[in-house]
Amino acid sequence: MREVGLVTGNLHKLQEFQHGLARLGIKVRHLKVECDEIQADDLDEVVNGCLDQIAAAGHKDFILDDSGLFIPALNGFPGVYSAYVFKTIGCAGVLRLLEGISDRRADFRCCIGCQMEDVGRLVVTGVSPGRVVMEERGERGFGYDPIFVPDGADRTFAEMDMDEKIVFSHRGAAMRIFVERLRGMSKEV
Ligand code: IMP
Repeated sequence: MREVGLVTGNLHKLQEFQHGLARLGIKVRHLKVECDEIQADDLDEVVNGCLDQIAAAGHKDFILDDSGLFIPALNGFPGVYSAYVFKTIGCAGVLRLLEGISDRRADFRCCIGCQMEDVGRLVVTGVSPGRVVMEERGERGFGYDPIFVPDGADRTFAEMDMDEKIVFSHRGAAMRIFVERLRGMSKEV
């Protein structure tokens, strides 16, 4: 079984990756190294910047992700600024920004990047289209989970268990694309 180190400071993400990738044949351990996220216009650039930094520090066989909530009615905001916006105004602040706006559509995006000894670098993106609800609902998950309902569901990510969230989520979609691409590049998953 292939084993990779996940670079993250977020233990919820670690659990989602361990859960999702185990089913797809990859074992995930926690790689506790820091990356200074560059400020960039898209998730790929942030991911590539972190892959460069961590590879330059001599690490091999690792993955990481960068995610964001993109709201068309706010011209894509918070997008690549999602982490800062969450820290400063949180879910309540995003709900306030959408007050009086009827178009509640939003996309959650997750860009996964890996650097492997055998296949080199692979960067893929998964998208979960959905909408921002009127008020926070649910206790599970993290970040913007209480305010996002994916298309095809009527509960927020924070009202879903991890199995269900992975079926609908941007990270679940990105993991499935990632493994499919990896299978195309290597006999070992
Ligand atoms: P990052 O990928 O850790 O930089 O995430 C950017 C922001 O989006 C952070 O505030 C996260 O909490 C939030 N975020 C990332 N993934 C998810 C998710 O799956 N659900 C809810 N919020 C998320």
